[in-house]
Amino acid sequence: MSKRLQNKVAVVTGGTSGIGLAVANLFAAEGAKVFVLGRRQPELTAAEKTIGNGSVGIQGDVSNPADIDRAYASIKEKAGRIDVLFANAGMAHVARIEEIDEAQYHETFGTNVAGVLFAVQKALPLMHAGSNIVVNASMWTIKGVPGFGLLSASKAAVRSLVRTWTSELKDRQIRVNAVSPGYCNTAAIEHATGSYEGAQELLAQFALNVPMGRVSQPDEVAKAVLFLASDDASYVNGVELFVDGGTVQV
Ligand SMILES: NC(=O)c1ccc[n+]([C@@H]2O[C@H](COP(=O)([O-])OP(=O)(O)OC[C@H]3O[C@@H](n4cnc5c(N)ncnc54)[C@H](OP(=O)(O)O)[C@@H]3O)[C@@H](O)[C@H]2O)c1
Repeated sequence: MSKRLQNKVAVVTGGTSGIGLAVANLFAAEGAKVFVLGRRQPELTAAEKTIGNGSVGIQGDVSNPADIDRAYASIKEKAGRIDVLFANAGMAHVARIEEIDEAQYHETFGTNVAGVLFAVQKALPLMHAGSNIVVNASMWTIKGVPGFGLLSASKAAVRSLVRTWTSELKDRQIRVNAVSPGYCNTAAIEHATGSYEGAQELLAQFALNVPMGRVSQPDEVAKAVLFLASDDASYVNGVELFVDGGTVQV
């Protein structure tokens, strides 16, 4: 059987860890040449080796539009086009309304909203009819859980942008979709809790809320992203595909 992204050029922001790395690995296994963006150079160097198939790591912060310009200039020089963009890089602060400060607000919206918006806007000159964009949102787009206000609002914003871009890019025949993962076992959980043990404890608590009784692994989200990014989803446009084990569906 032919590979689903054979000879495609794919870009994954935040492609050195968690869901982004799983997607980059799967895209490469399906034949794509993958460019991954991230802030930490050692992680980029390690990811290039793991992903293989001529993958290239480019250092940059998606919340800085100049870094995105530099990254795409390099991709234009090396590959000339982008067939698939997975706008994935994101972060979270857990803080209730009484606790949110300005720095948390600006970091969350700078990374999760501006970082996605400009990663998409600046990729468009390299994209063509038949190419497509997948934005990583979150199941929290449609919930109001204490402490998750900033994250939920930022992810609801990008989910909304996906609707608008689906209309705006129709004449260019570029599909745009969102994937909305539920609880996923990634380094982000460890960053939030500050330790491996804390992360395992939190993931066990999360699992109690999931109809399937467990959190997801990054590979399970990656398979859904591959579907959206491939011709298997040739008539799928503007959707938010929840990969949450049913958590916000019941
Ligand atoms: N894990 C979950 O339960 C879950 C659930 C729903 C949605 N999501 C979403 O999934 C996405 C990936 O999260 P993850 O859980 O896979 O996290 P992760 O394992 O911590 O990976 C985050 C990736 O993004 C990169 N990154 C972060 N900030 C960046 C920035 N400003 N510029 C460029 N790269 C940046 C990181 O590399 P550097 O640190 O080196 O930059 C890393 O490669 C996020 O958008 C998150 O909101 C996660």
